[in-house]
Amino acid sequence: MIRKKGQIIRLDTPNTTLVIKADTAQYIYYGKKLVSAGGFDAEVFSHRDYKIFSDWHGYDYAENSLLFDNADAGFTASFTFSKSRILDEKPEIEGLPTSYGEGKTLEVKYIDLPTKISLYLYYTVYDDSDVIAVSAKLVNGSKKEIKLRRFMSLQLDFQGVDYSFVTFEGEWARERQKISRKIESGTFVNESRKGMSSHANNPFVMAEKEGAVYGFNLLYSGNHKEVMNCTGGYRTRILTGMNDFMFEWPLAPGESFSTPEAVMCFATDADKMSSQMHEFVVEHIVRGKWKRKERPILVNNWEGTYFNFNEEKLLEIAAAAKKTGVELFVLDDGWFGKRDNDRCSLGDWTDNIEKTGGGLAQLADKIRALGLDFGIWVEPEMISEDSDLFRAHPNYAIRIPGRDPYRHRHQLCLNMADERVQNYVIRAISDVISRSKAAYVKWDYNRSVTDCYAKGIASGEFYHRYILGVYRVISKIMKKFPNVLFEGCAGGGGRFDLGMFCYFPQFWTSDDTDARMRIKIQSGTSYGYPQRVMGAHVSAVPNHQTLNSNPIETRFNVALGGVLGYELDMSQMSEEDTAAVTSQISFYKQYRQLLQFGDFYRLGDAFGGKESGFMFVSKDKSFALASVFVTERFVNTYDDRDYSIKFKGLNEAFVYEVSQRKQNNYDTDSCFTAGGDILMNGGVKLSGIFQDTQAQKNSGCVFSRVYIFNKVKK
Ligand code: GLA
Repeated sequence: MIRKKGQIIRLDTPNTTLVIKADTAQYIYYGKKLVSAGGFDAEVFSHRDYKIFSDWHGYDYAENSLLFDNADAGFTASFTFSKSRILDEKPEIEGLPTSYGEGKTLEVKYIDLPTKISLYLYYTVYDDSDVIAVSAKLVNGSKKEIKLRRFMSLQLDFQGVDYSFVTFEGEWARERQKISRKIESGTFVNESRKGMSSHANNPFVMAEKEGAVYGFNLLYSGNHKEVMNCTGGYRTRILTGMNDFMFEWPLAPGESFSTPEAVMCFATDADKMSSQMHEFVVEHIVRGKWKRKERPILVNNWEGTYFNFNEEKLLEIAAAAKKTGVELFVLDDGWFGKRDNDRCSLGDWTDNIEKTGGGLAQLADKIRALGLDFGIWVEPEMISEDSDLFRAHPNYAIRIPGRDPYRHRHQLCLNMADERVQNYVIRAISDVISRSKAAYVKWDYNRSVTDCYAKGIASGEFYHRYILGVYRVISKIMKKFPNVLFEGCAGGGGRFDLGMFCYFPQFWTSDDTDARMRIKIQSGTSYGYPQRVMGAHVSAVPNHQTLNSNPIETRFNVALGGVLGYELDMSQMSEEDTAAVTSQISFYKQYRQLLQFGDFYRLGDAFGGKESGFMFVSKDKSFALASVFVTERFVNTYDDRDYSIKFKGLNEAFVYEVSQRKQNNYDTDSCFTAGGDILMNGGVKLSGIFQDTQAQKNSGCVFSRVYIFNKVKK
C-alpha cells in the first residue's frame, strides 16, 4: 500500500514500512512495519544525509548513484524535486525483464533545472510481498547529447556504520559461497565485469547486523555492481545496478535510459529475509506454465558419457532411467555438427546423424516410446571457429579486427547485440525444438564476453546491448514454445540471477555435484533464491570435480534440496544403487510438492558449523521434511553426544510424529513424537547418524539423514 501526506510517502508491505520524503529526496525510515497511525510524523527521524539518489554536486562526495556528461559539458547535475504520483500500473522497462503482479508504483520526478534533464525513480510495492522493486529513468530534456557514465538502479542510505556486507562469491564449481565482512569505513564492491552475472559474484547481497537484515538483488544478467560505502563514521550507503565498468551510453535530446529493476527487502533476520525473497521470486519473477507446476525428475547424459556416445548408449541410459522412475531424458552437449570435443561445431545446430542414430527427431521419438519426455542441450550464444556458421559468417563472432581473439573453452561468443545474429539464433534454436519436439531445453552459456567490439556499436554500449539481445532472443523463443521447460545454465551457475529467472523457471546451480560441496553451494544460493529454481543432480563417484565419494543415499539427500535429477550412466549402476535410486525417486515423487513448493529453511550452518541441513515446511505447517548433514566429525566424539540440529518453520504449538526416510545403507531409528517448540528450540540429537556404514567408508565425510514430520491429529 502506498499513502501520501504532502510529500511524505509511506510504502507499507505486509511486514515492513518504507518512508520517503520526496521533495528532499530522503529516506526517512525503512524497517519493521510501523503500526501506529503515525508514520507520516516520521519526519522526526529525517536527516539530510539519507538520500534516495546521489547526483554529482554539493556536499556528497561518497559513491554516487548517477553520473553523466551533462549538456553543459560538466559532470555536475543538481536534481530538484518536480512531482510525485502513485501509479496503478508499473511502467514497462523496454527490453529488460521486470517483476510483475498486483500492486502500486510510486513515481518521483526530479529535474536538473539548467539543462531540463529529468530523473524518475520508481518504487513498486506488491500487496503480498515484503520485497520492493526499484528502478530509475533518465530523460534527456536538453538540446544536446549527454553521455551516461553511471546509473545505478537503487540507492539506500542508512544510519550507522555497523553493518556487515554479505556477498555470495566463488568461481566455476564453487558458486555462491557466503562471505560476510564488517565495513566500518570505506567502500566494498561486489561486481561482475564478465558480461554475465557470473560464478564469482552473484548480484544478490545483504547488509546485516543484529536484528536487521536488508537483502538486495538485481534483475539483470550482465555486468552488475553492488557497493557498500561507509562515510564519515555515521552513514552506510548501498548502491546496486548495472556496472559502470566500460559503460558509456549516449542519450540524444528526447531520448531516455531506464535502469534494470533492483529489489530490496528488510527483515529482522536472514531466515526471514530469505523467505521473503523466495516468495517474491516464486510469485513475481518466475512466470508461465511452469510457475506452479511440479518439475520433472530428469536424467542427463553429460557426466555419464561426455561427448562419447551413440544412439545405443543413449537408449540404454534412458531405458535404465525409466525403470527407476525418471521422467525426462536430457541429451546434453555433443549431438550436433561434428562435435566430438569442445573445439568445434557451436553454431551448427544440425543433427550429428552418426551419434544420434539418424537424427534428433527419430532419437527423440525412441526416447518417448520408452515413456520418457525428451529434452535437449543447446549453447545458442556461442560459435566455434571450426563451424559452418563461422565459415559463412565470421563477422557474427565477437572479435576485434587485427587482434587474435581471446578464446575460452576454444570458443567465441556470438555478437548478440546484432539483430541479424539474434534472428539467426532464434531460427536455429526454434528449429531444434520443433524438430525434436523437445519438452525441455537446457540453455547453456560457457564463456564470458571479452574483446568487446562490433562494427557500429560503441564499446561503452556493448555489454548492455549484448544482454538486451540475449533477452530479446530468449523471450521470442519462449513465446513460440510456451509449454517447454527451460533450464538455464552457464558453465554451471554462472548466470544465476533474477533476470534469467524472468524467463527460465530453473537454472543449473553448479557443475559441482559433490554432495559435500553442494551443501554449501545450495545453502549459499538459498539466501536469495528458492529451492525450486535450483537444478540438483545425483552423479557418480568418485565425484568428477572433487574426487570425493559419498554414498548414493547421501548424494540424494543433498540433491533433494533442489529440483532433482540424475547425471550419470544409469545403465552402469550396481543392483544395489539401482534399488536405492528407485526408492529415492518414488520418495521424491511422494514429497515433490512439499520439496519444490514448500517453505524452505536452512538448518545449522553450512559455512562453518559441523551440522547443516535443508528443511521444507507445508504452508499450514502440518507436515515437513528435513535433510540433515554432518560434514565434520571430530575425534573423541565417537558417539553422537556433540551432534544435534534445531529444526525451523514448524508450529510451536503442534505436536509432530517424526519418522525417518528408509535408506538402504543403515537402519533408521524408529519414530518419535515431539512438540514443534522443542524440535525448534531444543533440537534433536543426531542419534545414530554415524552408523551409516557406507558413509563411514566415504572420502567426503558427509553423514546424512532425512526426517519427516507429520502433525499428530488430536
Ligand atoms: C557446461 C554445463 C554442463 C554441460 C557442459 C557441456 O559445463 O554446465 O552441465 O552441459 O557445459 O559442454
